[in-house]
Amino acid sequence: MRDWRAARVRGFAPSIFAEISALAQAHQAINLGQGFPDFDGPLEIKQAAQAAIQAGHNQYAVFEGEPVLRQAIAAHALRFYGQLVDPTTEIMVTSGASEGIWCSAFAFIEPGDEVIVFEPVFDCYLPNTLMAGGIPVPVTLHTPHFRFDPDELRAAFSPRTRAIFVNTPHNPTGTVFAREELLLIAELCQEYDVLAIADEVYEHLVYEGARHVRLATLPGMRERTVTLSSSGKSFSLTGWKIGWAIAPAPLQVALRRMHQFTVFESTTPMQHAIASALRLPDDYFQNLIAEYQAKRDFMRETLTGCGLHPANPAGSYFMLASIEEFPHAEAVEFAHFLIREIGVAFIPCPPFYLQPERGARLVRVAFCKRWETLEAAAERLARL
Ligand SMILES: Cc1ncc(COP(=O)(O)O)c(C=O)c1O
Repeated sequence: MRDWRAARVRGFAPSIFAEISALAQAHQAINLGQGFPDFDGPLEIKQAAQAAIQAGHNQYAVFEGEPVLRQAIAAHALRFYGQLVDPTTEIMVTSGASEGIWCSAFAFIEPGDEVIVFEPVFDCYLPNTLMAGGIPVPVTLHTPHFRFDPDELRAAFSPRTRAIFVNTPHNPTGTVFAREELLLIAELCQEYDVLAIADEVYEHLVYEGARHVRLATLPGMRERTVTLSSSGKSFSLTGWKIGWAIAPAPLQVALRRMHQFTVFESTTPMQHAIASALRLPDDYFQNLIAEYQAKRDFMRETLTGCGLHPANPAGSYFMLASIEEFPHAEAVEFAHFLIREIGVAFIPCPPFYLQPERGARLVRVAFCKRWETLEAAAERLARL
């Protein structure tokens, strides 16, 4: 039969997340692979969505986002980062940050452009870059602390560089880029006239001792940064898929063309509810951090206790762990063994690298789960 697939999709396999989740389900393993909470977001936000439905916010939204949400996104940017954003011309609501990544790749990358990514890399930057015709150029975040070497970053920039994806706090490592690291990225972006696509979906998940710095607020970066974020992680409502892209008006024009001819708009009642979520008081965000920090510490102790070597992530709800004490195992094989024999699922890291063998000794563990889930996983892991 004729192969109907366009060349641009042929090279991509189903994601590792789907594969591990299916295997976890088949073996009734506790799934610490999937990067979403197994608990619900705040009750008042769910009630706000119900109220929006009852109030008749059920037809197509304004295509660039409901004004009430764009105003809340602008107020949030000012409140947390002192960033002044015009809600009319500088914000677009997306269907999750995923759509923002897709729109950015297709709005700004020309065939043959080089695009810098930090690896291990969040899985969708590579396919989006490649489908847009770009050439990914990796800069490694080195073990054990998952930071980049400034000389390697400098060497990755060239006159062919069009864009850089900067994901902080970073998935899968949990690294929160320090101000000095972001200043170097900013300096190089300006020297080489490069666009920054800043993916900040974990902006509120930053633990004691670290601070999230918004790249767009650094000197010279406002006009060359697209900031992507999303309500999914900050409000434990990943299924709602309400995200946004903040960018200066000339960049917005391009983003909005991509959005207009694909997704067009995101679900209306959820936009109204997220407008209230963004205005939740500070103690909501502080409690979220405290809860995740305690879970991070619990998971680190658990993993260390069973012979793995976990990193100490300053942000996100992921941690990487090295399997070096299991000298004969490779990460994919180890993850399969863990699901089948121990009943716990982690994500093996090879797919997060351009050269998969670089992730052969690492697994990713998600700790965005209820205490009962983490405790049950710890009990099973003790058998390791
Ligand atoms: C780094 C990063 N960016 C973007 C996304 C996608 O976010 P959304 O669910 O809002 O599309 C995720 C989700 O896991 C992520 O980890």
